[in-house]
Amino acid sequence: MKFNHELIEKNIGLLGIFTVLVISIGGLVQITPLLFQKDTTEPVKGLRPYTALELEGRDIYIREGCYNCHSQMIRPLRAETERYGHYSVAGESVWDHPFQWGSKRTGPDLARVGGRYSDKWHEVHLIDPRAVVPQSNMPGFPWLAENKLDGKLTAQKMEVFRGFGVPYTDADIANAQKAVEGKTEMEAIIAYLQSLGHALK
Ligand code: HEC
Repeated sequence: MKFNHELIEKNIGLLGIFTVLVISIGGLVQITPLLFQKDTTEPVKGLRPYTALELEGRDIYIREGCYNCHSQMIRPLRAETERYGHYSVAGESVWDHPFQWGSKRTGPDLARVGGRYSDKWHEVHLIDPRAVVPQSNMPGFPWLAENKLDGKLTAQKMEVFRGFGVPYTDADIANAQKAVEGKTEMEAIIAYLQSLGHALK
């Protein structure tokens, strides 16, 4: 029997098997080296884990779907670095599980938004974006200012993150609930936003 293209192209089963095989090899060739490359697995200098309050803020960021409109990944292109600052590197998000790189920018990238505005600006903006940016089409999130955190799960979350290799100390975990209890979701999400990009300004 001659082994030629026709044989594979006319047999859906064979075609399927070979397609999976080829994609798997291609995938492994791309992914495997990244797992062993130091600069993709090690934190950049100056990186610190999220505080308990920032961590809660991050969960609110995910819950509210902010990532649907905001990326946190600055590409190494002139137009991006001029606007947002240093391009993002893998070592900045090694402790982010899951990372919030996103893929869509209805609004601007937020990877380095920390420190760009005051806490008060964020508060006004999150309650009613049009109060500070008249042409904004970002929705308001006024309930964040009313909802309070009880911090009951914060320590547990930090322990899970420690299991993933985030260097939380026993003291961080012991003090977690105290650090967030009674704070509003607004305070938490602003703390998170202000922490973004702290390692590489
Ligand atoms: C429907 C899309 C959409 C969603 C959802 C959204 N945003 Fe926005 N966001 C925008 C747009 C558009 C802008 C630019 C106009 C403005 O500043 O309001 C913006 C601007 C911002 C800015 C200012 C960034 C800068 O560099 O000027 C911050 C901070 C921000 N958003 C945070 C958030 C957070 C936090 C959430 C989730 C609670 C969120 N956004 C959800 C669309 C969105």
